[in-house]
Amino acid sequence: MNREQAKAKIEKLSKELEEHNYRYYVQDEPSISDFQFDKLLEELIQLEKEYPELLSSQSPSQRVGGTITKEFKTVRHKYPMLSLGNTYNEEELRDFDERIRKTISDAFEYICELKYDGVSISLTYVKGELVQAVTRGDGEKGDDITANVKTIRSIPLRLRGKGFPDEFEMRGEIFMPKQVFLNINEAIRKQLAEDGFSEEEIFEKILKNPRNATSGTLKQQDSKAVAARRLDCYLYAMLGEQLPFTKHYENLMEAKKWGFRVSPHMEKHSSLKDVLKYLDRWDKERHDLEVETDGVVLKVNSYDHQRVLGFTAKSPRWAIAYKYKAAQAATELLAITYQVGRTGAITPVANLKPVFLAGTTVKRASLHNADIIEKLGLHENDTVLVEKGGEIIPKIVGIVLEKRKRSAATVQYIVECPECKTKLIRRPEEAAHYCPNYLGCPPQIVGNMVHFVSRRAMDIDSMGGETIEALYSAGLLKSFADIYDLKAEDMLKLERMGEKTVENLIKGIEASKQIPFERVLYALGIRHIGETTARKLAFSFRNIDTMMSSTAEGFLEVGDIGEVIANSLAEYFADARNSEIIRRLRKSGLKFELSEEALANTSEKLKGLTFVVSGTFTKFSRDDLKKAIETNGGKVSGSVSGKTSFIVAGDNMGPEKLKKAEKLGVKIITEDDLSKMIA
Ligand code: IVH
Repeated sequence: MNREQAKAKIEKLSKELEEHNYRYYVQDEPSISDFQFDKLLEELIQLEKEYPELLSSQSPSQRVGGTITKEFKTVRHKYPMLSLGNTYNEEELRDFDERIRKTISDAFEYICELKYDGVSISLTYVKGELVQAVTRGDGEKGDDITANVKTIRSIPLRLRGKGFPDEFEMRGEIFMPKQVFLNINEAIRKQLAEDGFSEEEIFEKILKNPRNATSGTLKQQDSKAVAARRLDCYLYAMLGEQLPFTKHYENLMEAKKWGFRVSPHMEKHSSLKDVLKYLDRWDKERHDLEVETDGVVLKVNSYDHQRVLGFTAKSPRWAIAYKYKAAQAATELLAITYQVGRTGAITPVANLKPVFLAGTTVKRASLHNADIIEKLGLHENDTVLVEKGGEIIPKIVGIVLEKRKRSAATVQYIVECPECKTKLIRRPEEAAHYCPNYLGCPPQIVGNMVHFVSRRAMDIDSMGGETIEALYSAGLLKSFADIYDLKAEDMLKLERMGEKTVENLIKGIEASKQIPFERVLYALGIRHIGETTARKLAFSFRNIDTMMSSTAEGFLEVGDIGEVIANSLAEYFADARNSEIIRRLRKSGLKFELSEEALANTSEKLKGLTFVVSGTFTKFSRDDLKKAIETNGGKVSGSVSGKTSFIVAGDNMGPEKLKKAEKLGVKIITEDDLSKMIA
């Protein structure tokens, strides 16, 4: 293919991809499969790689991301981005309507729209191409997040049709669809649970609500990370000097033809009565939408009327937001059950009389810990108020005291483990209660075994949760150390264990003996020891014996290991039953020291030095750099302090870190300098 042909092909592919994008994301009527789409996109990306000079900044290939923005440029808005006045009840809405009728004497229309709960964005199009996407910021100036916004598939990079002004702005709300939010949280939750975090700690770490998640995503420096998050956008305003119509609604209908995903929930109404009907209807139906909404926006349609009405200091007089109350329902508390996690953390769960709320039936709500129950002052069989805010996970927010029976007793938190009757403990620094019987409490034993064989640990994939349950019930497995003593003839006696299954199990178990030390360490399931910490420990202690003879202070010497982890390790190794498990696993042939190969790549060159790695790098990933420091005996720390020896700085190092480094006189080096230090 010559250059001319390549150019034609790129144009053709771009057109096709744009068309499919539009059909899929805007019209919701895809005409090719995702697979076919990806094939075309791949072809385009390949061609653009071969002919980089033919790459346009509006190419559909921009959707996959990969642009790193070091610092978002601040841009002044051509038209300020105002906020809206809020109303919370019908009364205030009537006042708004009256004020308008006093000013506007002729007939006028309201446009009713939903108020989407996301992040507002201003998109500038010049000659039909998206040239800039800016956040609201303080309303006057915002951040230029164009590269990130280009990854949002429903936002057109090039417009379709004709008749659009040479230059104009579209404004709308970027949001994370509820299902995307739930899926991401589920994945985070699964990973954290596997790493042994308690329900409580997981709750602290997961995304709080779709709006927060959207705003966090849009601030990412790497647009690939944004592309992965599947954000979406509804557009709800057009601004410019040469708009096709003099009315809001009509312009938006026109914008649809140009390929914009205009809010589909807009309606035109002339009377307040009809507006109120719209409010009522959507208070119920909004829960079925893919996007989180928190109210309705009412706008006067005609720009002439808007001009007459004008603005207050902060918001237009021609528009108002009506905020819905967070969906709440009253229902009876039937019982509190207590779940025991793999690490023994207890999670109290309220079992409720099923009640329909915001689109789903709520039967349970997490109570998190004893403090929350106490703060609520929960009594048995109380009628409780459940709320679903932006959080999606239902929450008990209050109690209907009038409904409490005189005889009702206060809820008493359990003192014994519901599964094994061991007395629960509560560490002073933690909110959760724990069952300390981790070697004798069934859900903990099974949970620990499931973790032990999991993919990132010992990777015995022939041994799933069900098999473990079966082997445990049959008495063949009492702890994961027993896995290596399993005999084919015993397993064959169990129901649903055929020859092939058993053969695979034995093979998988045998193969797992080759898993390197750092993963064996992770597999042990020591509380708070995730994959990264396990790696650090393995490279810093080299074998299990030095770890077993270390004190808590010794563990604190390893970079990024704090008291919680150090104490957890010391406690673990102080327990003779754990030493026994390790002894048995070692006898079975598992690896309890770093391999020759891993050792060959390690040195003591950076011994005694502490590094902070900050910014984005070109040759290595940040993780690679950290690993390289650790495998060469250095420590990596997250924050700059008097102890920091060097900062390995990439592009766009955090300004706070830089300031602190300068103040403390810490040496700043590049990734190349580091390479030389360990070469
Ligand atoms: S119009 C001057 N329409 O609500 C009018 N805003 O408090 C500007 N929002 O910053 C906004 N849905 O982020 C408008 N259909 C809608 C909206 C909407 C959500 C957000 C937007 C804005 C905030 C105003």
